[in-house]
Amino acid sequence: MNRRPRRNRKSQAIRNMVEETSVSVKDLIFPMFLIEGQGKKIEVNSMPGIFRFSIDALLKEIESCMKLGIEAIDVFPAYPEQLKNATATESYNPDTFYLKGLREIKKEFPEICLMSDVAMDPYSSDGHDGLVKDGKILNDETLEILGKMALAQAEAGVDILGPSDMMDGRVGYIRQLLDENGFSETSIMSYTAKYASAFYGPFRDALDSAPKFGDKKTYQMNPSNSREALIEGELDLMEGADFLMVKPALAYLDIIQLLNTTYPLPIAAYNVSGEYSMLKASVEKGWLENDRAMIEMLTSIKRAGAKVILSYFAKEFALLKR
Ligand code: PBG
Repeated sequence: MNRRPRRNRKSQAIRNMVEETSVSVKDLIFPMFLIEGQGKKIEVNSMPGIFRFSIDALLKEIESCMKLGIEAIDVFPAYPEQLKNATATESYNPDTFYLKGLREIKKEFPEICLMSDVAMDPYSSDGHDGLVKDGKILNDETLEILGKMALAQAEAGVDILGPSDMMDGRVGYIRQLLDENGFSETSIMSYTAKYASAFYGPFRDALDSAPKFGDKKTYQMNPSNSREALIEGELDLMEGADFLMVKPALAYLDIIQLLNTTYPLPIAAYNVSGEYSMLKASVEKGWLENDRAMIEMLTSIKRAGAKVILSYFAKEFALLKR
């Protein structure tokens, strides 16, 4: 035997030397939930360890994350039902708690990379990502609302906008509007290949944003398809996206790899709520080891080709690496 692959595994020092992929805290974006009010920190039932914070508590939490080396966050608002309506007008009300919160975050931490979603669902009384008419989700008619939302968020200081509704023509429309209004430096991370997945359940609990009727299959992708992701990637690239995102991550590692080998843009992957909760539930039962499984999950996503990972594990991972 002149080939013995085990020689490269014989000590920690050699294993470290030949290690191809390692996740850094700098690769991560931490998704966080903002609620209205003061002095609130409420755990999400289906996501142990993840909280919905009012702005005062969120600012403290962000500070502690930054001390651990986290440089990027994605903030989602959880709106009470009475502030939602069919046209999501609250999404661009300059006095709404979410936009005020984004401004405060950027004022307090100007160096942070702040991301936000551009889609109607957190503000929609229908719980859908677009305007609804006769049970159909409208494509083009929704653009005007998304445009107002995008400008309001850019104005509030957001660094990366994430058009997340998986409908057509979003990136080009938002890019042009941003440029015309003096926001040529605001980036776009497109939810390029976002699948109609069962793994978003806990997130919809966190936001109370589950669709009031039907599902999202006429806009989010069919989990069976990969070639369609190439069309989405090409459009986003041409329309001016700065990052292409795949979502969820773990059941779609092949899609991450496909986009990474096809397009020269950095690929992001969203390690979604269900992927987080699945591990937490097993850990509560004593069936899996939290830290090892978490590192293995994040490493697999990076190994597949994601340069950026949005993950609810970000803070825990950063604590572990400290
Ligand atoms: C909606 C949106 C969703 C997530 C991020 N943005 C859910 C959905 O499409 O219903 C899910 C994130 C997660 O599950 O962690 N625009």
